[in-house]
Amino acid sequence: MTRTHPAQTGLTLIVGASGKTGRRVADRLTDRGHSVRGVSRSSHPAFDWNRPEGWAQALDGVSQVYLTYSPDLALPQARSDIRRFVDLAATMDVARIVLLSGRGEPDAQACERIVQHSGLDWTIVRASWFNQNFSEGAFHPMIEAGVLALPAGQTPEPFIDVDDIADVAVAALTEPGHSGEVYEVTGPRLLTFADIAEELSTVLGRRVSYIDLPRQAFLDALADEGVPEPMAGLLDYLFATVLDGRNAKLTDGVQRALGRPPKDFRDFARESADQEVWSRAPRVEA
Ligand SMILES: NC(=O)c1ccc[n+]([C@@H]2O[C@H](COP(=O)([O-])OP(=O)(O)OC[C@H]3O[C@@H](n4cnc5c(N)ncnc54)[C@H](OP(=O)(O)O)[C@@H]3O)[C@@H](O)[C@H]2O)c1
Repeated sequence: MTRTHPAQTGLTLIVGASGKTGRRVADRLTDRGHSVRGVSRSSHPAFDWNRPEGWAQALDGVSQVYLTYSPDLALPQARSDIRRFVDLAATMDVARIVLLSGRGEPDAQACERIVQHSGLDWTIVRASWFNQNFSEGAFHPMIEAGVLALPAGQTPEPFIDVDDIADVAVAALTEPGHSGEVYEVTGPRLLTFADIAEELSTVLGRRVSYIDLPRQAFLDALADEGVPEPMAGLLDYLFATVLDGRNAKLTDGVQRALGRPPKDFRDFARESADQEVWSRAPRVEA
């Protein structure tokens, strides 16, 4: 049997390979027959942003990288970590980096510039907040509890599906024409957190409410839950600063990269409900 081999891309390193986007990028590349090395703190060998002595082993023999930073590219230490990682990659056989970044975050944009000035081929995927925060991320327990209590006001955000992010990243890693592009990617609709609660209520057939929490009440709740200070500070920054309306506009990044529109939140919600990522209303027996 003849098997069509994909264009040669060499070995792709996925940093954050068990994460929401990394997992999907790795699956797509593997399904297409590309060679992938996925790393995180739980991989063997492990990759840890706090242990640079292990980075060279991860980069050994790698020709391109899908780079995610955890917990967030907006953290102060990200800049020095990204610089050190990119400098190391440039001294090895790496030819291309595709960086996942966040919209409206000056510190993330500083990290983008490090990649852009690395001398390597680069593509930036600068994303809005993810749909999957509600199904796989921090907001999932709130949807299960039926109360989305966050200091999000009525600011609309164009939530993006991580399947679209993965498609854009894979295109940048496997096709010509994406080098030197900053793809600012959003979903097709601006939605407030109250809108999200309504959408999920409709799909799940049970009430999901939105409570606009005062900022201090949110910080107190995080402290009560024992969330460590750096993470609480990051969440406060994301809601108080990044969600101040600066990102309340749609962009054409998915269309530009893939030649198709991005997935709507409603389609994400229906598909996720069908996959039973949330519990539905109890079925009333006839
Ligand atoms: N969520 C959003 O709405 C949003 C929007 C825009 C941009 N972003 C950006 O997306 C990035 C996160 O990407 P993601 O959502 O795909 O990942 P994710 O779902 O948050 O998962 C994090 C990944 O990083 C690994 N990881 C955690 N701590 C690590 C460390 N110290 N060293 C090495 N690996 C570590 C995790 O695996 P282990 O636990 O095994 O280490 C996992 O693979 C962040 O930079 C964030 O700024 C997020």
